[in-house]
Amino acid sequence: MPKIEPIPFPPLAADLKSFIEGLPKAELHLHIEGTLEPELLFALAQRNQVKLAYATIEELRAAYAFTDLQSFLDLYYAGAAVLLTEQDFYEMTAAYIVHCRADNVRHAEIFFDPQTHTERGIGIEVVFAGIARALREARQAHGFSSAMIMSFLRHLSEEDAFTTLEAALPLREQYQDLWIGIGLDSAEQGNPPEKFAKVFARCAQLGFRLVAHAGEEGPPEYVRNALDVLHVERIDHGVRSEEDPILMERLAKQRTPLTVCPLSNLKLCVVSHLGDHNLARLLHAGLAVTINSDDPAYFGGYMNANYLAVAESLQLNRAELIKLTRNSFEASFLPTIEKQRLLEELDGYCSAHQTH
Ligand code: ADE
Ligand code: ZN
Repeated sequence: MPKIEPIPFPPLAADLKSFIEGLPKAELHLHIEGTLEPELLFALAQRNQVKLAYATIEELRAAYAFTDLQSFLDLYYAGAAVLLTEQDFYEMTAAYIVHCRADNVRHAEIFFDPQTHTERGIGIEVVFAGIARALREARQAHGFSSAMIMSFLRHLSEEDAFTTLEAALPLREQYQDLWIGIGLDSAEQGNPPEKFAKVFARCAQLGFRLVAHAGEEGPPEYVRNALDVLHVERIDHGVRSEEDPILMERLAKQRTPLTVCPLSNLKLCVVSHLGDHNLARLLHAGLAVTINSDDPAYFGGYMNANYLAVAESLQLNRAELIKLTRNSFEASFLPTIEKQRLLEELDGYCSAHQTH
């Protein structure tokens, strides 16, 4: 069968493009290890004398042709092996913040995977310290607002997650200005939310905000169980919820946020073409959908690239784009007063740009 190519969409009007670029927005689904650009990855490999499987940056980039989540995770974990010191984590995070500032990201809630590093012998305190130093510096220098969400790798055991939690808890006070939540990521299929019921119950008891990846490759049942068993407040991805009309009604009624990542879904073959993405349908069904970049160094773009890609391929209008950015602030874990301040900034931007 010949491959059916999508009909090309008309390019975005220049005024809509600049409107999107300037919109104040929040990023709620971002793996800091997924921001490691090939250039920095190579520089760190050289500095730390880590041997890579690719001879050049171009060769590495050429390997970013994924067929599913696992094919990406294999490269993502291999890439993270160049991170050894506090300075490495700092530089990676500082580089991400440069992109946030360019894209008018006002607030970011950042996932990090300590197990990826502790299993290579890196101290968990090194991971926390490097990421936090960059985030605090950006807050001080530019008022950039952020939070850290420590994520458990679901392909590992619940016992391993407990060990990670125990190792991190002594750092809680030191990072109380940043470390607000717990997440669940990595290979979804075959690693259902209920595998982590006990550790999430413990994290809830400790007062952490809870999120989990669900319904990216996994079935709607995983989304339901993330809500009912893990008691998460937000679902990361969640696009397969659409297969279950009762779940859809529930998500709309409860306004459970879905942190959707369009370019990620395209690169990991969750959808074949962005024009097939269900983001607009989810939004029109009343779900609290947000746009996020997931692992931008691997998936072809940061926040504005994701917004621009869906605006073009799903023909989103200004009202829909504003709703998506509004959702991003409302779904954040910011204190109410901070949310209000950012929502007012958004309103100010929209009235200054005369939206109809
Ligand atoms: N870790 C980094 N990116 C991920 C994704 N898209 N899904 C699950 N785990 C991840
Ligand atoms: Zn993710």
